[in-house]
Amino acid sequence: MTDGVDGTKEGRNSMTEHTPLFVIENLRAGIEGKEILRGVNLVIERGEIHALMGPNGSGKSTLAYVIAGHPNYEVYEGRILYKGENVLELPPDERARMGMFLAFQYPTAIPGVTMANFLRLAVNSVRKARLGEDKALSPREFRRLLREKLEMLRMDESFASRYLNEGFSGGEKKRAEILQMAMLEPEFAVLDETDSGLDIDALRTVSEGVNRLFNPNMALLVITHYQRILNYIRPHYVHVMLDGKIAVSGGPELAEELEEKGYDWVKEQFAEAAS
Ligand SMILES: Nc1ncnc2c1ncn2[C@@H]1O[C@H](COP(=O)(O)OP(=O)(O)O)[C@@H](O)[C@H]1O
Ligand SMILES: [Mg+2]
Repeated sequence: MTDGVDGTKEGRNSMTEHTPLFVIENLRAGIEGKEILRGVNLVIERGEIHALMGPNGSGKSTLAYVIAGHPNYEVYEGRILYKGENVLELPPDERARMGMFLAFQYPTAIPGVTMANFLRLAVNSVRKARLGEDKALSPREFRRLLREKLEMLRMDESFASRYLNEGFSGGEKKRAEILQMAMLEPEFAVLDETDSGLDIDALRTVSEGVNRLFNPNMALLVITHYQRILNYIRPHYVHVMLDGKIAVSGGPELAEELEEKGYDWVKEQFAEAAS
């Protein structure tokens, strides 16, 4: 008997083996010695939009920070594989240079730095790492790319000459994040509560921007407490986080069910399954 040549589990696995774009394996992490994520597993392929939902305090933002490599967070166990490489061993800027993008729930202001200057530094740093030292954009090329992206996102050109996040309204901060994402052309992006603080028009504009940027070669993880942004950015998969674990996963209909019934039924089901 030979192993794994035809029809056996091993044979099939080795024939169809490929590296998913993004994998989280049994991730345990927290802050100041307090465990918040208690065994998270997730697989995201190129071309997929995943939504991560869950009640406040369930650990969604913690997951976003750990993916980004925020230094305050501690990883106790598990791996995060991006293109097959464990990024937990890499500093945040290295992760960004590999094509990961993290938009934060509370972006910080950097006084004295314009959007355009900030974006030029970020874009050229990523381009040099991904394409080669001589692939930085000249000022003229950069301005052309910036104009193209501003137009694509229906943003005014004056936006880029403003100081980064200084005096930005909630909606403008979100737009700035999406512009940053457009410029960096990431292959994997995490949007944490991109809908928070947006009125319905801003929500629509920002979502349309994200949809225009999305392409089958990349993947998105959209983190949200509320279902409403998912009316605009349609996910292929929906996951619900409870107490630092993904309790339920499903298709887009799961988000609608949560909107209707709230999170309590998931909590009840999860408590039953765990006991
Ligand atoms: N800096 C911190 N220090 C201690 N606990 C924190 C800190 N940040 C978040 N937490 C706790 O971690 C848990 C998860 O928070 P968070 O990841 O922000 O959840 P979510 O984004 O789902 O609302 C909460 O109980 C919160 O109180
Ligand atoms: Mg949060």
